[in-house]
Amino acid sequence: MPLTPILTAHWDDEDSHTLTGYRRHGGYDMVAVTLNSNPDDVINLVKESGLRGRGGAGFPTGMKWSFVPQNDGKPHYLVVNADESEPGACKDIPLMMANPHALIEGCILASYAIRANHAFIYIRGEVPHVIRRVAAAAREAYSAGLLGKNIQGSGFDLDLVVHAGAGAYICGEETALLDSLEGRRGQPRLKPPFPAVAGLYASPTVINNVETIANIPTIVRNGADWFKQFGTEKSPGFKLFAVSGHVERPGIYEAPLGTTMRELLDYAGGVRKGHELKFWIPGGSSVPMLMPEHLDTPLTYEDMGALGTMLGTGTPMVFDETTSVVRAISRWIHFYKHESCGKCTPCREGTFWLDQILERFENGTAAETDIEKVDEICKQIAGRSFCALGDAASTPYAPALRYFREEFLAGTHTPANQLFDPVASTVFTGAMA
Ligand SMILES: Cc1cc2nc3c(=O)[nH]c(=O)nc-3n(C[C@H](O)[C@H](O)[C@H](O)COP(=O)(O)O)c2cc1C
Ligand code: SF4
Repeated sequence: MPLTPILTAHWDDEDSHTLTGYRRHGGYDMVAVTLNSNPDDVINLVKESGLRGRGGAGFPTGMKWSFVPQNDGKPHYLVVNADESEPGACKDIPLMMANPHALIEGCILASYAIRANHAFIYIRGEVPHVIRRVAAAAREAYSAGLLGKNIQGSGFDLDLVVHAGAGAYICGEETALLDSLEGRRGQPRLKPPFPAVAGLYASPTVINNVETIANIPTIVRNGADWFKQFGTEKSPGFKLFAVSGHVERPGIYEAPLGTTMRELLDYAGGVRKGHELKFWIPGGSSVPMLMPEHLDTPLTYEDMGALGTMLGTGTPMVFDETTSVVRAISRWIHFYKHESCGKCTPCREGTFWLDQILERFENGTAAETDIEKVDEICKQIAGRSFCALGDAASTPYAPALRYFREEFLAGTHTPANQLFDPVASTVFTGAMA
């Protein structure tokens, strides 16, 4: 399938991040007309487009918006989840750097649809350059009368706050994000009530991913049928596929949903020269791995689900034969242990134990019984944790064991670094010197 540069179409323009650069290609052109239409029409248009959330779970966006109660007398809020912290996920940050106005225009249109007069963009705290860029774009939009009171004479008011997170992966979980935004320690909330009914400050709130919201102007400008011409019936539209790892040209490839990993690999110049594909992961580190025989399966929510994995953030990671599966799983588990917020026992304790046992595999000091022990602990975490971080920590192990059991067995006598030289699998060799 050919690439479809839509969100990325003008990223090569020197001024793509400015108001002038964005307006040159029709940016904000639909704001005035939309703000004079019926907000329900915008919700219906997004519903009709079939757009699914790009933050990982793929929930239908228009449906989410329609859950917000109307005429309830409460303030409504739009919150953009720009916490992108999943290992392997790198699409929202480049989007905000290259084209922050697409996100801001999306915020205006989405806020109007859900009757919100306040919107927040919650950006992970470790990327001050992105925070500065989005804040600068918001200032430009305020100066141009696109944010603030009576936008373009429509009578619609919208205040936009660019908020810096404080460096916790769990704050990407939507309800932990809300707690963090309210000034509390970021920990997931019990659902129900769902944010659409009682979210930020206990008021109806829509939380959407950056890429989801940046898609809205394209749909409002071109229509639902145009959007649906891309992708499949259940996964319409196009996607920022961020390909990383052992490929010749890592980067963002914008292509229709349904594109295969083999096609993306071709765009990315293939696996590093002189190496061969060992395994790959369709989303971020939270989704189960796939093998070379899965390269021709369409990258859609439904097809990835049928393979027992998930499209996730749609940011595939590619690993060649130099990779130690034990070391890779051990790194991810270490990450999840570090990022576990501690609220529930299965995840807090389970990730701690998993981390210790996987370290034994990595050091070549594991017992053979540890193989089943890890599996058992994973089963105790998955489905029993308070939020999806627990599931994310526990799902990668089973497929890794299924495909690479011999590497875990080797972990009972030989350190992973002896079997797989870590320098050989390093991507940025300069950084190792
Ligand atoms: C631990 C954890 C981290 C998450 N991090 C993010 C994130 O950084 N960005 C994001 O959009 N969604 C993230 N999510 C998913 C959000 O909870 C939520 O589903 C998403 O923001 C909804 O937006 P969407 O409907 O547009 O996909 C995370 C979920 C979990 C459990
Ligand atoms: S699953 Fe982990 S991150 Fe989620 S609430 Fe429980 S301890 Fe916190």
